[in-house]
Amino acid sequence: MANGVSGPMPRRWGMPVLFLLAMAAAAAGFVANAYFSEIRAGNVWSLTYGSAAAALLVLAVTYGARRRMMRLASRFRAGGAAGWLGLHIWGGALFLLLMLMHSGFRLPSGVITGWLWALSWWTVLSGIGGRMLQRWIPRMLSSGLTTEVLYERIPDLVEEIRGRAARLAAGSHEAIATLYRDLEPEFAAPRRRWLFFVDITAGRERRGREFRHLRRLLGGEDREQLDRLEGFYRTKLEIDAHYTLQQTLRLWLYLHVPGSLLLVALLAAHLYSVWAY
Ligand code: HEM
Repeated sequence: MANGVSGPMPRRWGMPVLFLLAMAAAAAGFVANAYFSEIRAGNVWSLTYGSAAAALLVLAVTYGARRRMMRLASRFRAGGAAGWLGLHIWGGALFLLLMLMHSGFRLPSGVITGWLWALSWWTVLSGIGGRMLQRWIPRMLSSGLTTEVLYERIPDLVEEIRGRAARLAAGSHEAIATLYRDLEPEFAAPRRRWLFFVDITAGRERRGREFRHLRRLLGGEDREQLDRLEGFYRTKLEIDAHYTLQQTLRLWLYLHVPGSLLLVALLAAHLYSVWAY
């Protein structure tokens, strides 16, 4: 339609719709299973769910390998990063559903199967949590802060600002030098503060009162120097906000990846034990 109200479905919806349909089909299969046959481990229904879940798990972990081999992937035209991430996320969600169907929505009684069950939940839930952080943190940083900072540059930037603030304080009014001595520990190194998760400008107001109070007492050039010191202090707070939130974006992978690799290793042990006995 010319007004753009309806028309072909946007391409980015293609994969979610496909996987939601696959989930609906899997759920319908499970209902049919319950109707026609007993739901128990080892029968053909359960083996089908289990095999499909294992294939999806392999697909999900392949995403990590693809990320590590970007150049090779582009040489063999192995698809774009966004498409792979979509497959990873939606394939991971479908994997969990099939794993639950495979175990008949019951808690497993074996040790390996118990770990497989728990790690599947852990991997998928940590993945969903990480995806939410990946969407939320960049938005929060760009909406509330005036500076853009590369994570790797943070230690150098902090050192530079600390040096500039120290030099300024050394040649200024005694009251400014005293205020700087009080602020010095905050300039010393990048600082993590959990408060940034609720208020990205945290800390600004508390010290702002001290700066305002001093500004009233000072005049002319001293006041200008105080304003410059406040500028340095605000920049340092913004860098700390970047440090806290960008570090979280990196650290969540440590919750997601080791568990997912252990899951794949345990799946191999599970398959071996099923084949061998
Ligand atoms: C709904 C389920 C899942 C979601 C939402 C999810 C989400 C994510 C996200 C957002 C990333 C980081 C992507 C990036 O920044 O490029 C990631 C990485 C990864 N995920 Fe998942 N994931 C899920 C399921 C799984 C499963 C089932 C596995 C198990 C094999 C897995 C293994 C990995 C690995 C190994 C990486 C690291 C990639 C790398 O940096 O090398 N994920 N996942």
